[in-house]
Amino acid sequence: MYRRPIFAANWKMNKGPSETQDFVKSFLQKITDRPSADIVIAAPFLCLPTLSESLREAGGIEMAAQNCSQFDDGAYTGEISVKMLREVLVRHVIIGHSERRSIFGETNAIINAKLKKAREVNLKLIFCIGETLEERNAGQLESILSSQITEGLAGLTTDDLDHTVIAYEPVWAIGTGVTATAQQAQDAHAYVRSVVASIYGDDIAQKIRIQYGGSVKPNNAAELMACPDIDGALIGGASLEPQSFSDIIHNGCAPA
Ligand code: 13P
Repeated sequence: MYRRPIFAANWKMNKGPSETQDFVKSFLQKITDRPSADIVIAAPFLCLPTLSESLREAGGIEMAAQNCSQFDDGAYTGEISVKMLREVLVRHVIIGHSERRSIFGETNAIINAKLKKAREVNLKLIFCIGETLEERNAGQLESILSSQITEGLAGLTTDDLDHTVIAYEPVWAIGTGVTATAQQAQDAHAYVRSVVASIYGDDIAQKIRIQYGGSVKPNNAAELMACPDIDGALIGGASLEPQSFSDIIHNGCAPA
């Protein structure tokens, strides 16, 4: 089945509004041919209005937030609600990133609450999962991925899954320069798809897009994207430069 590739930049805690403007100006000049892929930029909350304004003329590039609150509104100092995100025209939200899990203590239950809250306002989900090196070495890859998926997606409907992208990001490959081999990534993606099939059936599993994330660079994008179950990339460090982000998209979309 054809699945349109989706490339998402996750800037993490990098760039302010003026750098956001500079990035977009330069990126749009590099991506004029518009490969047939979805392109998403996940900027810090503070940059989203600027990003929206800068992308308005160009069209076709969507915005994501990197997190959201699991609560509606009220006394939650420092948090950002899903309704606020909608108001500034955000379309996607990254939930469950390993940095949120490990640094900010987000459990599968919290992630599940956030995923559900985001769907209440029709945000599209970029749901991140992935194992640590210790878990992989202990032979727990499948059990970790399976529980992250089962507990993370508990209670989400097939319609919700139609608006979900799963990002498989092995923790040991994030920001380390160590990429999973194409075979390791393909095996994990095939497994993730099989877990989705066991919960939601084959149709949904065949349709859902699964991104790979973890040290994706211009020189490894083509090989990763050539794998049958890899449908795009979630890119950290290499998405901070317009040239490398656009090279990843072009190389990832080039025929293998
Ligand atoms: P790097 O591309 O910097 O390894 O980060 C990956 C990531 O965490 C994207 O969400």
